[in-house]
Amino acid sequence: MDKIKQVDQAIRAYYHSQDSVSKDLIEAILYSIDSGGKRIRPMILLDLLEGFGLEVTDAHFDVAAALEMIHTGSLIHDDLPAMDNDDYRRGHLTSHKKFDEATAILAGDSLFLDASGLIAEADLATDIKLSLIQSLSRFSGTFGMVGGQMLDMKGEGKKLTLEQIQLIHTNKTGALLAFPFIAAGYIAEQDDATMNQLTKAGRLIGLAFQVRDDILDVTADFEALGKTPNKDLLADKSTYPALLGLDKSYEILEDSLNKVVAIFQKLEQERAFKADAIMVIIERLRLHA
Ligand code: IPE
Ligand code: IPE
Ligand code: MG
Ligand code: MG
Ligand code: MG
Repeated sequence: MDKIKQVDQAIRAYYHSQDSVSKDLIEAILYSIDSGGKRIRPMILLDLLEGFGLEVTDAHFDVAAALEMIHTGSLIHDDLPAMDNDDYRRGHLTSHKKFDEATAILAGDSLFLDASGLIAEADLATDIKLSLIQSLSRFSGTFGMVGGQMLDMKGEGKKLTLEQIQLIHTNKTGALLAFPFIAAGYIAEQDDATMNQLTKAGRLIGLAFQVRDDILDVTADFEALGKTPNKDLLADKSTYPALLGLDKSYEILEDSLNKVVAIFQKLEQERAFKADAIMVIIERLRLHA
């Protein structure tokens, strides 16, 4: 079975692990999970673990699944009428359109709150699980994704500086993309020097990813995006393309990805790290004008 299928299987297994309290809730959760998505966050984690020479186990799939659960929950809430008000996600109706708003809110709540439970139950050393839960909580909550979403909402209709946009991007999107880099370091029990490199790579990919998303919002069509294009313009969001223009945005994306490539080339030379698989993920993020 391929890795993405195994991540999805781990999520499904969690939701079937005991009799459901509400079948409607589980139906809504699995609707959004099954709608697709690139699964880039779990793949970064799993490919890094293999890069460090680990054989991927069910417990690793559980950690990857927990991360994807929080990400999917963040998308369900991001699409709500009170937030970005989107009708389509991953090529399908958004949760509140398919079901109703209350169901979408609760499906998101579940995905957020179930994630740490899934990690806690995984077959990993207790100290590693504690580090994973602690950083996933930090990266997704008030000091990460949710904090960034708040800044994003407050920034609508305002002209923000590059520093302010960067702060939003780093938190709303960057944090959850940086998590798999840190998590791989914890699980593969890397030293401080390698952890620092992973943190750097995670930050760069995190920023690059939202710059890429903002470029795609204005350049790609519904077919490619699975979501309605030109939404940022409509909501008067401060984005890299809006502030710096498309050319400069492409350049920043390219530069950030080059820096990440350099980090992994160095890790490959200096540590026993196999970079092939993570390099494929990084290369796939490149966009050409
Ligand atoms: C979209 O994330 C939202 C952002 C954080 C920019 P992805 O582009 O990873 O969405 P899916 O999971 O593939 O649908
Ligand atoms: C999403 O940013 C960030 C989170 C979901 C946390 P966007 O609002 O730009 O994502 P899309 O474009 O709707 O996927
Ligand atoms: Mg948003
Ligand atoms: Mg949105
Ligand atoms: Mg977007």
